[in-house]
Amino acid sequence: MLATDTSSSALAIQRDDTQREGGLLTSALRERAADQHYLKLSGLAKSFGSTRVFSEIDADIARGEFITLLGPSGCGKSTLLRAIAGLNNVDAGQIIVNGHDITHLPPQRRGIGMVFQHYALFPNMRVVDNVAFGLRMKKVQPEERERRVNEILRLVELTDHAQRFPHQLSGGQRQRVALARALVVEPQILLLDEPLSALDARIRRHLRDQIRDIQKSLGLTTLFVTHDQEEALLLSDRIFLMHQGRILQQGNAEALYTRPVDATAAGFMGHYNLIGRELAQPLLGYLSDGPRVALRPEALYLQPDSSLYGLQDSQVNFPTQALPSNSGPACPGVIRRHQLLGNIVRYEVDCQGLRLNIDVLNRSSRQLLPTHLRVQVYADLDEVQALADIPAASPTAKQAS
Ligand SMILES: Nc1ncnc2c1ncn2[C@@H]1O[C@H](COP(=O)(O)OP(=O)(O)OP(=O)(O)O)[C@@H](O)[C@H]1O
Ligand SMILES: [Mg+2]
Repeated sequence: MLATDTSSSALAIQRDDTQREGGLLTSALRERAADQHYLKLSGLAKSFGSTRVFSEIDADIARGEFITLLGPSGCGKSTLLRAIAGLNNVDAGQIIVNGHDITHLPPQRRGIGMVFQHYALFPNMRVVDNVAFGLRMKKVQPEERERRVNEILRLVELTDHAQRFPHQLSGGQRQRVALARALVVEPQILLLDEPLSALDARIRRHLRDQIRDIQKSLGLTTLFVTHDQEEALLLSDRIFLMHQGRILQQGNAEALYTRPVDATAAGFMGHYNLIGRELAQPLLGYLSDGPRVALRPEALYLQPDSSLYGLQDSQVNFPTQALPSNSGPACPGVIRRHQLLGNIVRYEVDCQGLRLNIDVLNRSSRQLLPTHLRVQVYADLDEVQALADIPAASPTAKQAS
C-alpha cells in the first residue's frame, strides 16, 4: 500500500514536474511568439484634410528588429513614424506594443524614443543637460540620472564633449547628442527619421555603423527612415518599401534587391532596366510571361563587337567580359555614355530600340569602353524578372531616342 502510495505520489510529482515543464515551455513559446509580434501595426490610415497620407498599413515587427522605411519623398514615411510616436493621431487602425494598445496614448507614455532629421537640441544647454532632460522630466534621482547620462555619453563616444554647448559641436556630434537623448530614457522602441541626412558621407557611414552597433547591443526595436537604398540594404533586418502611402513590399535586403514585387518596386531598388516584353524579346530569345521584364544593370554583359568594325579580334584592344552560363542571344548595341560610380562603371547602351544601363566592374581606367563603340549585349537569363504591372513612369525604363 505504502509502495503504491509512494509510487502514485512519485507519479503525481512527476506529472506535476511535466506540467510545470510544459507550462514553462508554453510560456517560453508564448513569449517567443509575442516577441515576433512585438510592434504590430494594423490597418493604420491617416489623412490631412482631403489628402490621404497613408492607408492599409499592416506590419508585424519582432523585438530587436531593425526595420528601414524606404521610399520616395512625400510617400508618408515621417507621418507614419510620427503616428507611432504619438505626435500625429491616426484616423483608423491600431498600434500594439508588446500586446498593449498604445494607439491613443500620449507620446510620453508610449516608451518610444525618436530622433529627427534636424537635431532639435536645446541651444542654451550643455550636452550633458540636453541628454539629462528626459530623465529630469521623469523625475529620476540625480545620482541615477548622472550614472545613466554618463553611460549613454560613453556609448555615443561623447564623454569628452559633455560640457560643450550644441553650437560648439559638429553636425555628426550634434546628431549623436540627439541619439543619446533618445536612448537615455531606455525606450522600448527607437524611431529614427533620416538622422544622417544632414551629414557628410564619411561621418554618415561612421554614425550609421555606430547606430547599428548600439541598436544591436541594446536589442532595441528600431524603425529607421531613409531615402538611400544603399543604406537600407546595408543596415536592415527588413526593409519596408513605401509608395504613395502604402507598404509596397516588405522583406530582407536580398528579397527587395533581387525579387521586386512589381515594376514600381523595381524602379526604386537596384536601378533596374524595365522593358516591355516585346522589346525584351531579342535580348531574352523568348517572349516573357509578364508585360514587363526587369533586368538589373549587373545582369547585362557587354562585349566589344569587332565584326561590326570589320576588324580582327586581335586588333581590338578592349577587355571582354566573361559571359554567364545561361546568357541570352547577342544583341548589337552602341555605347552612348558612361557614369563612374566608384568601383562600378555604368554604361548607357542603345540596343535594339532600348536604352539600357549596364554595370561593369571598374578595374582600370585603361579598360573604359569609349562612347560610340559598337558592342554586343547579353542578358543573364537566370536574373530576368517577369513583372505584372506597368508603372505610369519609371525612373529607369527608357526607350532609346
Ligand atoms: N501637417 C501636415 N498637413 C498637411 N499635409 C501634410 C502634413 N504633414 C505631411 N503632409 C503631407 O503628407 C505627405 C507625406 O508627408 P511625409 O512628411 O510623411 O513624407 P515623407 O515620406 O517623410 O517625405 P520626405 O522623404 O520628403 O521626408 C506629403 O504629401 C506631405 O505634404
Ligand atoms: Mg520625411
